[in-house]
Amino acid sequence: MQIPAHIEQKVRELSAEGGTLNCYIYDTQPMHKKIALLKSIMPAGVEIFYAMKTNPHPAFLDAALASGAMGIEIASLGEAEKAVAAGFRPEQLIYTGPGKTEEELCWSVANGVRTVHVESLVEAHRLNAICAEQGETQDVLLRINADFDIHEAQTTFSGGSKKFGVDEEKLDDVLPQLLALEHLNFRGLHVYAASGVLKVADLLKNCELVFGLAEKIETQHKGTICDIIDFGGGFGIDYLETGHDFDPQAYANGLQKLIDDYDFGGRTFFLELGRYLAADSGWFCTEIVDIKESRGKKQVVCAGGINHFRRPAALAINHPLAIVRMDYPRLFDGQDSVRDEEVYFGGPLCTGADKLANDVYTEAADIGDIAVFCYAGAYGLTMSNIEFLSHSRPPEIVLA
Ligand SMILES: Cc1ncc(COP(=O)(O)O)c(C=O)c1O
Repeated sequence: MQIPAHIEQKVRELSAEGGTLNCYIYDTQPMHKKIALLKSIMPAGVEIFYAMKTNPHPAFLDAALASGAMGIEIASLGEAEKAVAAGFRPEQLIYTGPGKTEEELCWSVANGVRTVHVESLVEAHRLNAICAEQGETQDVLLRINADFDIHEAQTTFSGGSKKFGVDEEKLDDVLPQLLALEHLNFRGLHVYAASGVLKVADLLKNCELVFGLAEKIETQHKGTICDIIDFGGGFGIDYLETGHDFDPQAYANGLQKLIDDYDFGGRTFFLELGRYLAADSGWFCTEIVDIKESRGKKQVVCAGGINHFRRPAALAINHPLAIVRMDYPRLFDGQDSVRDEEVYFGGPLCTGADKLANDVYTEAADIGDIAVFCYAGAYGLTMSNIEFLSHSRPPEIVLA
């Protein structure tokens, strides 16, 4: 994959400074543009939230704030604090995720988080008791584990036995109990089907299912309105370079049609997007420290591995990568190099799991060159094994 010229230039500048290069480079212009585009094409009532678990670096929070995202989807108190420090008001935060603690719920109520997305009856009762103690009422969405999954998705969040939300078939039992909790103000549903979805039709199928559920609930429980519907995240990135990017305009058109078909105009729809917004705003750049032939395959050993960029190993996929050639002199005559072959890229960690990419066709690579992994703006450093082997933390360099 080609990397943008200004990223290559930055890699060369950093390399010229000396020392072993191992860092993230961020340029959040793509994220700015994507948020602006989504805001301009989505149906009325759609609100865009940035799922900050994707990349909590302040540059990404700044991009979300400056480009007019409605707010931040948080899943911990730490995320809440970072979002507030970045300039978001607590009422711009929506709080999702299983296992919210007493302290986290107390903070949410005391600070006026916009919606808490309850994941179980236990959580609903815990939150209700906290609200009673503080003399407050909290707007909540109920997260549903729908009886539906997207088989091709990289990660599924509903269908089957899941720790997320309440099983759809338990709704008749759970919802009346939730509605009876007097300090919780039921506002609607949260149904997040899957992450990394490239087929618009699959995500729209999820939207249709949720609309059907909302209709059923409103028929069965007179006076109950699902006036907020949260579809979660899920817009995919074409990591495997299939040439089929997620088409946000097709999604917007399809969602508008569903809103019209169900007569749901005037309601609010949350999208909590992560990778689609952030992935192409970051590159993981790591120097090739060693190359050796081992039983028919070249092993390319880089300065950083799963301690700094774990996602490829965690999801068993290769990220597109480019080699920035440095033309360093050879250390000795017999030194191995890579020429027109499929190779393995790994890091320096003492585990076979330390894989950055495998079977990657590589035209040319030598020791001292920089391997640049693309789409590393999402789930990069934040989901890596940073402590393992105590290597130093890679700098995160933000381009102005
Ligand atoms: C509750 C929730 N919302 C949003 C997201 C963001 O998902 P994505 O990166 O697929 O957009 C996640 C990811 O795990 C999540 O758990």
